[in-house]
Amino acid sequence: MQMPQHPDITLSETSSGEVTLSIDSGQAMQGWEKALMEESADLLCQFGTSFVEAGLGLGLSALRIAGQPTTRTHVVVELYREVIDLFVQRRPDRPASLQIVQADFFDYIKSVPPGSLDGIFFDPALPTSTWSDGPFWDAVVPTLVDALRPGGALIPFFSTVPQLRWQYLDYFDRVIVLPRAFTAYADTGYTSATSGRAYIQCFVKAEH
Ligand SMILES: C[S@@+](CC[C@H](N)C(=O)[O-])C[C@H]1O[C@@H](n2cnc3c(N)ncnc32)[C@H](O)[C@@H]1O
Repeated sequence: MQMPQHPDITLSETSSGEVTLSIDSGQAMQGWEKALMEESADLLCQFGTSFVEAGLGLGLSALRIAGQPTTRTHVVVELYREVIDLFVQRRPDRPASLQIVQADFFDYIKSVPPGSLDGIFFDPALPTSTWSDGPFWDAVVPTLVDALRPGGALIPFFSTVPQLRWQYLDYFDRVIVLPRAFTAYADTGYTSATSGRAYIQCFVKAEH
């Protein structure tokens, strides 16, 4: 997988308050996802107190996870310094449990002690071809599972098609699915439609 090294990163807001983070002119994250990000975060927080997240974006899920009174540590790993700087400028009032690390998440996760996390929130914006790259996922998902404690959970960003995310199915014991209505922006290009049903999917590691 090849991510751009020095992409053009912009944050825009329309007069009606529609917020878009763009990376090399592709929509990486938009503000309408807030409710889905927060419900995903709340579900993850039911699994414990210590979390890691892939991809900061607008920081919506990060703020919700770190803002839970029960959260002890939440480390968000973001590839691009500019994304971090934009977030820090917009959110000077961050929860104490939130740590932001600039790194490639796929390198970082290998350094996490096995069994040390209660949960992982996984929302990096990856090149489209990566999502269908079976060998890539067969290499990555075991590193995510190793980092979780028994009974810990992985929540990837929601899907807008009614299918389980196949990348994780072989590696987890249980899947919790929350179907939720969503309405994106008229210009949203990364969902299957601009409104419909989204599926928050939570993959739970076996207890034993
Ligand atoms: C969809 S956004 C995350 C949105 C976030 N969940 C929120 O609530 O705002 C994806 C982020 O992942 C970052 N990213 C992409 N590849 C990454 C990688 N390999 N390691 C760390 N961050 C990565 C992108 O720069 C982008 O900021």
